[in-house]
Amino acid sequence: MSETNSRPAAGARIVLRDVTKTYPGQAGPAVDSFSMDIAPGELIMFVGPSGCGKTTTMKMINRIIEPTSGSITIDGEDVLSLDPNELRRRIGYVIQQIGLFPHMTIAENISVVPKLLSWDKKRTRDRVEELLAVVELDPKTYAARYPRQLSGGQQQRVGVARALAADPPVMLMDEPFGATDPITREKLQTEFLRLQEKLSKTIVFVTHDFDEAVRLGDRIAVLSERSQIEQFDTPANILANPANDYVSQFVGHGAALKRLGLIPVNQATLGPAVPVRGAIEVGINDSLRNALDLLVLSGGTPVAVVDAHGRVVGSIDIERISAVLGAEIVPSALTGARP
Ligand SMILES: Nc1ncnc2c1ncn2[C@@H]1O[C@H](COP(=O)(O)OP(=O)(O)OP(=O)(O)O)[C@@H](O)[C@H]1O
Ligand SMILES: [Mg+2]
Repeated sequence: MSETNSRPAAGARIVLRDVTKTYPGQAGPAVDSFSMDIAPGELIMFVGPSGCGKTTTMKMINRIIEPTSGSITIDGEDVLSLDPNELRRRIGYVIQQIGLFPHMTIAENISVVPKLLSWDKKRTRDRVEELLAVVELDPKTYAARYPRQLSGGQQQRVGVARALAADPPVMLMDEPFGATDPITREKLQTEFLRLQEKLSKTIVFVTHDFDEAVRLGDRIAVLSERSQIEQFDTPANILANPANDYVSQFVGHGAALKRLGLIPVNQATLGPAVPVRGAIEVGINDSLRNALDLLVLSGGTPVAVVDAHGRVVGSIDIERISAVLGAEIVPSALTGARP
């Protein structure tokens, strides 16, 4: 994507085999025999409770923490055999708690890895401007500011820009949107998804927030103590078939609603076209969750479904949504899931 980087990187394959970390002085391992195959361009979410080993697992991928045993390869190369600079070029890292350097300007923060890689001034400056534009911060306004002169959400975007600086094929993101309010978080998620569509990096993304995992992930690993994988599957499959009680607890009560958020209206068998009443209409590519929200507004009257040109192509109602999910689920979702 970048003319300033000669080798625009698509994602890389990451393979972890029996990776174990026992911290010095600890009786048991923090991560116990963790194995996972991550395909190039995949966005993998780690979800699990505080202290279960998410950060430890992630930090072993870029060798901030050395595994006690096991192996990690990126595109077939043993991470332990790579030169640290090479590793930094290949792996962008957004740390938990943002971690911008307070005494450096935004531009200097983003330039940290290019500096390590000895890029010249012009190339670095061009890259900083390009990345600030990517994360929707105007370079003229923000490049010379210090982190404390930015909001929390803006700082997190700078953290993402910094990790992208050398266009690494792999990104490790540890709760990158953790410090933001729900509205900012949703906005950052949307931007991030748009960005990933363009960049197709291999991303490991840690979150506490199962909804965030569902929204962003190609696959989700639900982790328990010692980074044990309770389930590793697509959001839709985990929502539809939680592997055990532990996963069910994580999915929470709104499973049906969350599933509806993933399924477009065009997956339902539409009813006959109806007139658009009171501007209540749903796009054929919108989610069934949106359709359900509109059905609540319409008082249950079938809602018009429109195509990209705004033409009515059919209608949707509760029964047709239920039929997509399996009939038993929707009523409880309607009554039980609104926070
Ligand atoms: N340097 C360390 N020395 C000893 N124990 C550690 C060290 N760092 C982490 N731990 C322990 O290892 C376990 C896993 O920690 P880790 O930071 O990986 O958890 P996490 O899943 O990222 O948690 P959180 O969601 O709170 O960030 C915890 O029990 C933690 O106390
Ligand atoms: Mg952590």
